[in-house]
Amino acid sequence: MDSKIEQAFEKARSFKPSSPDELERYRIELLGKKGIITELFNDFKKLSPSEKKRTGRILNDLKNYVQQKIQTIGRELSEKDHYTYNIDLTLPANQLQLGSRHPISIVRNEIIEVFARLGFTISEGPEIEDDWHVFSALNFPLEHPARDMQDTFFITRDPDILLRTHTSSVQVRVMENTSPPIRTISPGRVFRNEAISARSHCIFHQIEGLYVDKNVSFADLKQTLEYFARELFGEETKIRLRPSFFPFTEPSGEMDVSCRCRGEGCRLCKYTGWLEVLGCGMVDPNVLASCKIDPQVYTGFAFGMGIERIALLKYDIKDIRMYFENDIRFLNQFSGTLQ
Ligand code: PHE
Repeated sequence: MDSKIEQAFEKARSFKPSSPDELERYRIELLGKKGIITELFNDFKKLSPSEKKRTGRILNDLKNYVQQKIQTIGRELSEKDHYTYNIDLTLPANQLQLGSRHPISIVRNEIIEVFARLGFTISEGPEIEDDWHVFSALNFPLEHPARDMQDTFFITRDPDILLRTHTSSVQVRVMENTSPPIRTISPGRVFRNEAISARSHCIFHQIEGLYVDKNVSFADLKQTLEYFARELFGEETKIRLRPSFFPFTEPSGEMDVSCRCRGEGCRLCKYTGWLEVLGCGMVDPNVLASCKIDPQVYTGFAFGMGIERIALLKYDIKDIRMYFENDIRFLNQFSGTLQ
């Protein structure tokens, strides 16, 4: 037994594994189920009590020695592995994946830029709103059919808490919290209970404009919109205003811009030569009064546009659902636009 232990010690000492595989073989050979040390322990069971005392100590020393050696060499090997990792510095670097802005962000930023040049500030409001800011303060009487055009998602009834259907709610918040002169635009997300199709979605984005001061006239509105249309769609763009209805503006209008086909007729403008882009009008005196602004002293204009729609016209995008699908082939087409 003693000489067997001596041999095992010898083996344990002389062995110098130089790879993790070799180390594992070393471990199995000595400490595995049929390993040398394991068998020595089996023999040990057959010894007499007095022999056990002495041999036991030596055997334990052997086992500890081997375990320690395995641990130390294991650590050394893994460090070595780490530091001698083969790096070829001549290989080309990994490509940095630069994303691109979403077309909605590009167009939103472009619109903001145009109005910033005219001195408009940016204001924001909550997406979860109450009835007052979305409807009542904007001159939509309760039960008025005009509310049907903006059917929304209610979060609670009584009090009515709902997802805003338009950014016009921000008009109210700004007028309640600041006094004229007011010149602001409010970009944001809006929600409507609409069936999703190529032309409409239940989630989309708008930009609202509001100008309130003394002596603001319809001519100011028209001039501002004309400037905006030319900046966004090009110098030769013409605008036309058609009468319309919104509860919160009087008179109200819808603005069309001339189509790129220059009136020759194309699919985009459905052969009319005009593209509808936004709703607008003079702020209704009732709305000013609701927001504690004296309609005898102040007048104002407001407008609101859908960003998806503007981007659709600008980039000739066929289906509004593309904006929300996150298809990389679609989004990649907008890379390189820094706005
Ligand atoms: N809020 C209207 C809409 O969502 C647009 C609008 C804004 C019209 C401001 C007039 C003035 O359709």
